Amino acid sequence: MENLADAFLRLDRKDISLLKAIERGMRHSEWVPIEDVIAIARLSPKGASTGLSRLVEKKLVSRTTEPYEGYQIGFAAYDLVALSDLVDRDVVAFLGDLLGVGKESVVFEALGSGAPGPDEPGAPPNRDEPPLVPLAVKFHRQGRTSFKHVRRARDHLRDQPRCAWIHAARLGAAREWRTLKALHPEVRVPRPVALSHHAVVMEHVGGAELYKVELEEPEPFLELILKEVASAWRRGIVHADLSAYNVLVGEDGEVVIIDWPQAVSSRDPRAQELLERDVKNLLDHFARKYHLVVPHQEALATVVGDDGGGRKEGETGWVDRILEG
Ligand SMILES: Nc1ncnc2c1ncn2[C@@H]1O[C@H](COP(=O)(O)OP(=O)(O)OP(=O)(O)O)[C@@H](O)[C@H]1O
Ligand SMILES: [Mg+2]
Repeated sequence: MENLADAFLRLDRKDISLLKAIERGMRHSEWVPIEDVIAIARLSPKGASTGLSRLVEKKLVSRTTEPYEGYQIGFAAYDLVALSDLVDRDVVAFLGDLLGVGKESVVFEALGSGAPGPDEPGAPPNRDEPPLVPLAVKFHRQGRTSFKHVRRARDHLRDQPRCAWIHAARLGAAREWRTLKALHPEVRVPRPVALSHHAVVMEHVGGAELYKVELEEPEPFLELILKEVASAWRRGIVHADLSAYNVLVGEDGEVVIIDWPQAVSSRDPRAQELLERDVKNLLDHFARKYHLVVPHQEALATVVGDDGGGRKEGETGWVDRILEG
């Protein structure tokens, strides 16, 4: 598959309309009938047909002919649908290199106004051209495994829920977006800029992941991270996937915690267990790399504070044991 920005540049308006039409149709059918594609894209049958053949050739669209002529997109085309929306909304002006590929996302650097697009609440009307700022565009991939499964087993799955992967990826992006909105700026997370389909646009954070960095003074840095974990906990949120991979160390030595789609409310029954795991992952990293040994209970006590922070009323567990002394 060619680079996302190149793929985007090679598409014309008609291609984008077709991809968007198939995506819309996939909310109802696994394979979108040709008639629906034509109706949604508002193209002539001939125009749609040649456009679709080109997209099939580029491997952006899959076609079936049995039991009817139908079309389907995968993640590469879905990325292009979201990107086109972000470009139309003036959120993204340039798409750059790949920043990272994770289990459940691909992240690109980009340049854009950094302001919310016109469809986002709080967007200023008629902005003058603002300066471009570095952004990160994270395309979620939560349903990737089930997508492969659906494709392989498509003939046996006619009655299954439609397009689990689109649903899962959109849900992942929406959860990350809501969490960033809830935490920024009180907790050091990337500033959320825009949400489109399965893509979250946020501030690009310079620096490197904690696991790659050699810290000169590990102990105060661990304290800085725990302070952010505590701050999120007080706001009722547990990261739930915290590790040295999801902490960025800025060039000036500041901490930014990324990768929030799995965050849970501190009222979730598993919240305490997940917070404990997050803290353990961090402590294990500092113990392994710097031989810095901090007792778990001590670190947890720092995080939950004197009043237990966001814990649920009446709930018992280690938070309460810490509080009881
Ligand atoms: N706002 C950002 N600024 C700079 N780099 C980022 C930003 N967001 C993500 N990245 C880079 O992209 C990589 C992957 O992003 P992220 O950790 O959010 O998702 P992920 O690792 O795919 O998720 P998972 O942990 O589920 O696999 C990060 O490790 C980091 O290198
Ligand atoms: Mg990550």
